[in-house]
Amino acid sequence: MRPHESITGRYEDDEGKRQFVRELFNRGARHYDRIGRIGFFGTGHLHRRCALERAGLRPGMDALDVACGTGAVTRAMLEVLGGKGRVCGVDPSEGMLGEARKSVPAAFQLGQAEALPFPDASFDFLSMGYALRHVADLSRAFAEYHRVLRPGGRLLILEISRPQMRLGLALSRLYFRDLLPGFSWLITGSQDARRMMSYYWETIDACVPPAMIQQAIQSAGFQGAERHVELGIFSAYTGQKRVQT
Ligand SMILES: C[S@@+](CC[C@H](N)C(=O)[O-])C[C@H]1O[C@@H](n2cnc3c(N)ncnc32)[C@H](O)[C@@H]1O
Repeated sequence: MRPHESITGRYEDDEGKRQFVRELFNRGARHYDRIGRIGFFGTGHLHRRCALERAGLRPGMDALDVACGTGAVTRAMLEVLGGKGRVCGVDPSEGMLGEARKSVPAAFQLGQAEALPFPDASFDFLSMGYALRHVADLSRAFAEYHRVLRPGGRLLILEISRPQMRLGLALSRLYFRDLLPGFSWLITGSQDARRMMSYYWETIDACVPPAMIQQAIQSAGFQGAERHVELGIFSAYTGQKRVQT
């Protein structure tokens, strides 16, 4: 199942999307953290950390951050583990990984959600932050998450969802579509940053509804698939691999 239909004018097919997204983040990488800090009013770190704790990340676990990017979730994972456990990050963008390696002391590796470079049952916890829209196929990604988790392992997917209420949708469009791309250009002076943030909203707007994402998580074999929503827009999907498989 695709997370969204093709975005007109951006690419032609799945391979085109993969290359477009990789180049988008390679070019935008050096601006990503700055936009994240200013554009989300400094709330991103606490939001990620609270979500990890709520989803059951605890010291002593082996944790994997898929689509780690510049390491925003990875950093929060390290804090929660407090030196007890292991944290790995994986991402297909060399540019984003390069930024992560500058400041986050975790094991980073090149790779993508649909074909994770890890053996079966390697982790107790797996998260993916704000990247679900970029995979080629949701079912394939969730099957991979299920494969690399140990029995009882926990899943957390953070994503921005298109608001259901009219007012929320109008406000989100105003901010994410009309203001944030231009604002990103203003604070960085980079058209790459503007393009990265324009694509951000285009994919949120086009994304399949949350119920379909929950269903795909369940179909991959996770139990107790739930969605926690804040402000009608910040979604946290959780699930657990069965202890007996
Ligand atoms: C918006 S950034 C999110 C970074 C970070 N997780 C965060 O919370 O800020 C999206 C990331 O998804 C990565 N990505 C794109 N396609 C991917 C795929 N198929 N599998 C895994 N990661 C992917 C991009 O390279 C980029 O680093």
